[in-house]
Amino acid sequence: MTSSQLNQIKQFAKDYYQKMNDPYHPWEHALLTAEYAKKLAKPFKNINDKALESACILHDIGRIKKDEGHPEESAKIAKPFLKKIGLDDDEIELILRAIEIHAKERINEARTIEDKLLFDADKLQILSVYGFLRVWMFVVDKRRMNLNKALDFMWDYVQDVHKGNYMQTPLGKKIVNQEMKKIEKIVKDYKTGLEGKLK
Ligand SMILES: [Fe+2]
Ligand SMILES: [Fe+2]
Repeated sequence: MTSSQLNQIKQFAKDYYQKMNDPYHPWEHALLTAEYAKKLAKPFKNINDKALESACILHDIGRIKKDEGHPEESAKIAKPFLKKIGLDDDEIELILRAIEIHAKERINEARTIEDKLLFDADKLQILSVYGFLRVWMFVVDKRRMNLNKALDFMWDYVQDVHKGNYMQTPLGKKIVNQEMKKIEKIVKDYKTGLEGKLK
């Protein structure tokens, strides 16, 4: 893939995120996914870094149509565009597969390191302090839960994901372990305050 093709992919994806106008999955979510993936990729050799960046950038564009099943939808939207700009079939396959299986329900289908890197980079935006707060607000806003209930829901959710040991890379696991300790502290502090008690 050339730098010009990568730039075309970025522009294509950016237009989608801007049209979606979802405060919880903005263009910056795509950018941060690419940044995390680059960081997690450092210990690995023979990564197709442009394909990885493309998959990260494109992974949530399918949310323009639906949240449930969006990974497959993202791949469906991206496919004709990647063909149009002249990527070869192997590279298209690499990108689309990583996108399609970025949900925890399908990550057991991961075959390439690019699949695993996109997954971990995306999940670090739930299993991190930033991610926890981001999704907490998402749940309050979109699911109309009150703050306290949403906090319990999120805490249960991140613990489940954490216990499920889904993270795919050693560095991803390490970061999550550190972040979980910080999240636990935030949850405890918030609960104590909510009960009208001092720590
Ligand atoms: Fe997603
Ligand atoms: Fe995402």
